[in-house]
Amino acid sequence: MLLLKMKQAALVALLVFWIPFANAHTESAESWISNIWDQFKEAVDCTSCQALLGGLKLVAGFGDNFMIDVLTGVCDISGAEDPDVCAGVIAGEGPSVHYSLKNLKIGSHTANTFCASLVGLCKYPKVREYDLTFPAPKPSTSRPPPSGEPPIKVVHFSDTHVDLAYETGSNYACSKPICCRTYNENDAPGNTSSPCGPWGNSRCDPPHRLQESMNDAIADLNPAFSIYTGDVVPHDVWLNDKSEVLENFNATYGAMEKSLGQVYAALGNHDSAPLNLFPSSKVPSSYNPQWAYDALTANWISLTGLPSIESADEYGSYSVLHPNSNLRIISYNSIFYYKYNFFAYTEPMEYDPNGQLKWLIDELQAAETASERVWLISHIPYGNSDHFHDHSHYFDQIVQRYDATIAALFFGHTHLDEFQVSYSDYNNRTWDTATAMGYIAPSMTPTSGPPSFRVYDIDPVTFGVLDFTQYIADINAPEQTSPEWVPYYSAKEAYGSKLASPVTDPSAELSPAFWHNVTVAMENDPTVFGDFWARRTRGYKVPSCTGDCISGEICALRGADAQYNCYVQKVGFSFEKRDSLGEGARERVLPECNHAGMAPLLAKIAQRASIAREMEKH
Ligand SMILES: *[C@@H]1O[C@H](CO)[C@@H](O)[C@H](O)[C@H]1NC(C)=O
Ligand SMILES: *[C@@H]1O[C@H](CO)[C@@H](O)[C@H](O)[C@H]1NC(C)=O
Ligand SMILES: *[C@@H]1O[C@H](CO)[C@@H](O)[C@H](O)[C@H]1NC(C)=O
Ligand SMILES: *[C@@H]1O[C@H](CO)[C@@H](O)[C@H](O)[C@H]1NC(C)=O
Repeated sequence: MLLLKMKQAALVALLVFWIPFANAHTESAESWISNIWDQFKEAVDCTSCQALLGGLKLVAGFGDNFMIDVLTGVCDISGAEDPDVCAGVIAGEGPSVHYSLKNLKIGSHTANTFCASLVGLCKYPKVREYDLTFPAPKPSTSRPPPSGEPPIKVVHFSDTHVDLAYETGSNYACSKPICCRTYNENDAPGNTSSPCGPWGNSRCDPPHRLQESMNDAIADLNPAFSIYTGDVVPHDVWLNDKSEVLENFNATYGAMEKSLGQVYAALGNHDSAPLNLFPSSKVPSSYNPQWAYDALTANWISLTGLPSIESADEYGSYSVLHPNSNLRIISYNSIFYYKYNFFAYTEPMEYDPNGQLKWLIDELQAAETASERVWLISHIPYGNSDHFHDHSHYFDQIVQRYDATIAALFFGHTHLDEFQVSYSDYNNRTWDTATAMGYIAPSMTPTSGPPSFRVYDIDPVTFGVLDFTQYIADINAPEQTSPEWVPYYSAKEAYGSKLASPVTDPSAELSPAFWHNVTVAMENDPTVFGDFWARRTRGYKVPSCTGDCISGEICALRGADAQYNCYVQKVGFSFEKRDSLGEGARERVLPECNHAGMAPLLAKIAQRASIAREMEKH
């Protein structure tokens, strides 16, 4: 049995070279490095991407350490990152890549999804239908109208990414994915002409004191409670380990516990080490970051003030009733559906990892029966370009079934100020078919705009969103003075007055139809789109966006079911340098988190390979 499995993988490899085993690793690693590098250079379409996967699968057949050596060698040749970054990233995530690659069936839905979503070389495969069963038929009820009661304030912040190793005065122009650390003596304070300020820099994750400053500003507003949509850990992904992650949890959640009241939090893709890797229960438990789930659960219990939050330690999802209210908050693990979670490419790709969708249906059904209102909070917006289409569609069907019970959905991850509208009919997206509203809050880390948090005005009965005000801070404040957190814009004021039928009444809900109408106003008036576009990065390096870029972005705002978001993965695009944000175009409009980890590294290697191929031709 074992022999049979090995045979397939090893046979071709053995034909390529036959060396006594003792030497096989050094010598064969070298020949495989150039072999795989050549295959990267030849990877220009879906067929050659599958061939590359076939080659990687053969390498994986020699064990995870061998595969890690080969990929690290290829990364070094490509010059995609500094050698220590190549080595750290690949050593961290390599075992998971090995796990899924060694069983990958070339040409399968899984392999096609891999080539489509990671390197853009295959067409994104069609959504596989999956029959979700609902315990009861959809009732004829619809979203309740606003109660007219005085609103409560709820704060939403996300993607804090505090860097405990941040050093004021160190170099912000380093060669690593994040700076403001002393990686070598030239980066040290006093030795660099590009010193980081005391409160942060756009090339760096922020210092702990920025979070303390934000927490103080939030506490001053005295919200009823807050929501935090994840990503505690900074982007030093090639160095992340368990002890660093736990230290980060302790510092970030500790600071929240100290100065904020009740907070409901969600799991981020960075909230483990290595990042992104949250296997389902189908994968051997030795790969499961149980320690991260356990630590987060302990912090989340303290933050919610509830005696326990059932099931959070299983895979990071929980459902709780906000005290003295009929608001149910459901926090779910969206990383199961994230294209950079290599465990998701385990053959065959699962329809419902850990039965989470089934669990969501049960929770929503119980909420509907009990006439509760529901908020769904999670890290990755389900219409985002890095969310699997299959699971986005399944999730959307659940949202459609319970659209009268779900008051709103709240996300982070993209670091940008965005939103996403769900529809009952994606072939006919109108204000009348708009059924649910996903709010995407920008980040605190200043890598794609000034640090930011959001304050919603919430109807205390329906828990619908009546308005929100986005706050930002200027991180260039001097050492002695805390940054000032100031209102940036308010949604109703900024967009409500621009609609064909203006919405300015403070007690009106920002309903799914309202937001659809905002997208119509964007179509009709480029200045409405332009204002949204600038607010997206809080005015930072606003890329030019005209013509097809505008229609693509509007399509994405209307694309909660990801297969309809009009997004096309371009070969190697993920590797655009942050600095090129200024050049615009849909494919450059990237979640900053995508700059970190092994998947973007593979894509960057592919891009370097295509440049090498072009240079060899000329
Ligand atoms: C600054 O650079 C000098 C040599 O160029 C080195 O001796 C010194 O240790 C560096 N400072 C720090 C803090 O690393
Ligand atoms: C956790 O954070 C507190 C301060 O909030 C600190 O005193 C303590 O040493 C930290 N523990 C660990 C294990 O880092
Ligand atoms: C689109 O939706 C609207 C509003 O529900 C409806 O009136 C119209 O008939 C629909 N059009 C199509 C082509 O389904
Ligand atoms: C959206 O626009 C339509 C058409 O102009 C209008 O009938 C409807 O009342 C608007 N809805 C909201 C919530 O603004």
